[in-house]
Amino acid sequence: MKKYVEINEKIKRFNNSIIVSGDKSISIRCVLLASQGIGTSKIYNLLESEDVINSLKSIKKLGIDYVKLKNCYIIKGFGFDGYKTDRKLNIYSGNSGTFARLVLGLLVNSKNQITIKGDKSLSKRDFSRVTDPLKQFGVNISSNRNYLPVKISGTDFLRPIKYFEKIGSAQCKSAVIFAALKTPGLTKIKAKKSRNHTELLLKELGLPIKILRKKVYDYIEVNGQYNFKGFNYIVPGDISSSSFFIVLTLLSLNSRLIIKNVNINESRIGIITILNRMNANILLKNKKNYKGEITSDIYVKSANNLKGIKCPKSLNSSAIDEFLVIFLVAAKAKGISTFKDLGELNKKESPRLDIAVNFLKRIGVKIIRSKNDIKIIGNPKLEINNKMIMKNFKKDHRVFMMSCVAALTLGGKWKIFDKNSINSSFPEFLTIIKKLGAKIN
Ligand code: S3P
Repeated sequence: MKKYVEINEKIKRFNNSIIVSGDKSISIRCVLLASQGIGTSKIYNLLESEDVINSLKSIKKLGIDYVKLKNCYIIKGFGFDGYKTDRKLNIYSGNSGTFARLVLGLLVNSKNQITIKGDKSLSKRDFSRVTDPLKQFGVNISSNRNYLPVKISGTDFLRPIKYFEKIGSAQCKSAVIFAALKTPGLTKIKAKKSRNHTELLLKELGLPIKILRKKVYDYIEVNGQYNFKGFNYIVPGDISSSSFFIVLTLLSLNSRLIIKNVNINESRIGIITILNRMNANILLKNKKNYKGEITSDIYVKSANNLKGIKCPKSLNSSAIDEFLVIFLVAAKAKGISTFKDLGELNKKESPRLDIAVNFLKRIGVKIIRSKNDIKIIGNPKLEINNKMIMKNFKKDHRVFMMSCVAALTLGGKWKIFDKNSINSSFPEFLTIIKKLGAKIN
């Protein structure tokens, strides 16, 4: 089977409604929390991507059974002490930073040493950002010079901590919140704003978590060692997966798209705020509150009057996984766009800031970089007329999908490698985009 796709023409006008798969962050959190509840949890519309499948396989290795019935995963937990950790175990997280970091928080009471491993990309990502705070709970945790494999041996003598999360990383914050759930006493966290699905789920489960939201930081207090019962959850669509279709529509001619039932948690919709400030006119209709999360249908249409943006740093965290496609819009907009302080992009599945700068230069976009700040000089007439080969992006799913959107909207003859990368987050990507009329071989 070919490892690449070929795209040789732009997508034609479309007017459709689509459903994207379940949110990855919420799916992984549901699997982890269900594995620690007492009794049965039923999770509907769980994302069936490799990151989530690896999470399911891992909890199974930890002694938690699950079955799938129709569109529902049924997971049976035994409470906080329910993982079978009476022997040494290896857990494989694949490409998933979220699972690897969050599960560490739940292993602070493991009886034996558990080793977390990952694929090539995950093995190049920094784990000191979670091992450092987890150490303070009193666990024995070590890494391979800050990288995987990470080995954790829990303790019966967990002590609550005070933790200042300065990066704006939901993974770090959530790992600490999970550890706090198992720790007697009050853990206090001051965290730079980041996605808050963990906090909302804990509230929904009736756990003693207090959150004081200020402008830049959230102040979170978790009182530990309160078990909770299994729960039911319907995972909404993923805004990060939707973002490729939002930008595809914006940059196509005379097209319209409705994306149904997407999670639009405020901590995730930086992309909507940014694109609307660039004149996109994306509408969120049919808003609903579902267990503290907000969902809506997203209405988007082609934009022919896009303008540059001076993107405030305060929006970085809520658009962190969407910058690759936001840069494409900036490249096609009138005027200059500036983005600042994007060093975190280089800590993702691949060094996305470096890759984006290279990519934009290759397609003829003027771009000025100063460390982690970039300036994109937009050109509404931007077209690609030559051959483009996209390789060596470390099998990063989001780079693959962004490249498809670029090919389908800017033209050129493309070969885009590593199509299997989409299995990490969005296996249905190619099927859906072809349904809109994209010619992809
Ligand atoms: C995630 C948090 C973000 C994001 C990742 C998913 C999560 O990472 O980039 O794709 O589910 O908590 P950081 O927490 O490292 O910023």
